[in-house]
Amino acid sequence: MMQFPWMTLPLVLSFGLTACVDQETTPSGAEDFMSFCAACHGAGGKGDGPAAARLDRKPADLTGLSVRNGGVFPGTKVMAKIWGYTGVAPGRQAGGSPMPEFGPLLQGDLVPYDGGDGIATPTPVRLVEIAEYLRVLQR
Ligand code: HEC
Repeated sequence: MMQFPWMTLPLVLSFGLTACVDQETTPSGAEDFMSFCAACHGAGGKGDGPAAARLDRKPADLTGLSVRNGGVFPGTKVMAKIWGYTGVAPGRQAGGSPMPEFGPLLQGDLVPYDGGDGIATPTPVRLVEIAEYLRVLQR
């Protein structure tokens, strides 16, 4: 009969510790997408999240942003959209979009973000990472 492998206990404990520490670091763009966007836009970004059916306006298919923009990822437009809905950029909340505000995503450092127009704007790092994640999702 096998005995409980006590030697593995320190290993298990140190894994647990690592998990705790990880939670205090900034979530990745993929993690934030899952927490803040996937309910509507779907885990794969196709606009088919579980909350989509309840909405009057269909969530955009975020895998087609580049295709709909002549093959170029519209980084500046995407950033205006997600930052605009935080309520920080004045005047951008109008238009009746069901997209919520993303207050927690504004916490953390500002980093220069150039969405493709050659102008680097100091931008909350978690928004930049979500935008970069969306860039990866393009079909
Ligand atoms: C409550 C549902 C909901 C959530 C949550 C949500 N969205 Fe949306 N989103 C929509 C809807 C509906 C539209 C289409 C209407 C519009 O453009 O405002 C949209 C449109 C967009 C667009 C514009 C696409 C285009 O082609 O112009 C982008 C970019 C976007 N969302 C990104 C995000 C990101 C990133 C998140 C998470 C940080 C997010 N959304 C969270 C519902 C949501």
